[in-house]
Amino acid sequence: MRIVKFDRKFLEDVISIHCPRWREIPLSMRIKDCGYWGDPEVFSWYVDALLSADGKILIALKDDTLIGEAEIVPERLKCPVGDHVYLQMVWVKEGERGIGVGRKLVEECSKLARDMGFYALDTIPYDEAIPFFEALGFSEIESQVLMEAKPRPAPEQPKIEEIGKRELPVAVQMLAGQTRPSALLWELLWGREAVGLPPPRVFKVRVGLWEFVLGLFRPTADDNYLYALIWGPERANLGQIFDSAEMALSIAYDMGATKVRTQTWCKYRGAFEAAGFEAIKRIKWMRMKIKED
Ligand SMILES: CC(C)(COP(=O)(O)OP(=O)(O)OC[C@H]1O[C@@H](n2cnc3c(N)ncnc32)[C@H](O)[C@@H]1OP(=O)(O)O)[C@@H](O)C(=O)NCCC(=O)NCCS
Repeated sequence: MRIVKFDRKFLEDVISIHCPRWREIPLSMRIKDCGYWGDPEVFSWYVDALLSADGKILIALKDDTLIGEAEIVPERLKCPVGDHVYLQMVWVKEGERGIGVGRKLVEECSKLARDMGFYALDTIPYDEAIPFFEALGFSEIESQVLMEAKPRPAPEQPKIEEIGKRELPVAVQMLAGQTRPSALLWELLWGREAVGLPPPRVFKVRVGLWEFVLGLFRPTADDNYLYALIWGPERANLGQIFDSAEMALSIAYDMGATKVRTQTWCKYRGAFEAAGFEAIKRIKWMRMKIKED
């Protein structure tokens, strides 16, 4: 088995290990079940976004057949857990699991991360994969919480401006919605329509001296809720985070949504609860420290 850089000639092979019956399943169902990894065209667009965010993809080959893949993206913007490279995905073909392929992929990712100048490889694992990450030396360093609320108008209307694609302001950090690095999320947000996913609406909101950026979108056409991404000032306090959560609900209300979901850091949970969000699930944020050679 060898680990090499991903080449687009393996696009369909990547989809086949994530979603083996993809050719027989309608597109919307595959995207709901397997995400960007459920369709070659969508995955190709996702690869463009990942590369533009300085990400890297590795694949595991056995006799030239693809048996695994892994993806990393550096977090170069501010983040409540500090500098890290994010392990976006590691996936091994069924039938090839349990023989060290996943470990080898993650080890090679950690070498790439170190070559990029980072000392932490972070991930949010699926629950079933937590023992795998623990075996590799990852441990929980923070936790996030998936939250949901009913939209409602805000008592005070802040100054809101809908914006188109432009540079994500660098002086912000993600307050909510952080499931991957900011630059990748930003790219993915703006490319949704091109691959048939519901487009986002993005707003710049000013409260006093503070500016927030809010992105709202339906994950797939079949979902009945809006997902909210919230960027805000690096030093935002809980009061300002409460304001940003309230604004997300107010904009969603104007958009006619019946539910809003977001994933925020546990330390911000109180601010979101005060704005009307309820916790659905706690999520582990895990880190492996990258060793020197
Ligand atoms: C999770 C996954 C990537 C693991 O890959 P793998 O090739 O089967 O794992 P490895 O054989 O390299 O195992 C590495 C270590 O993890 C341990 N491990 C792997 N899966 C485990 C499990 N479910 N429970 C306990 N330990 C586990 C192995 O025992 C091994 O430990 P050791 O090296 O100390 O003996 C693979 O099962 C997979 O693709 N799952 C579906 C996708 C997924 O969940 N991806 C992760 C989230 S993005």
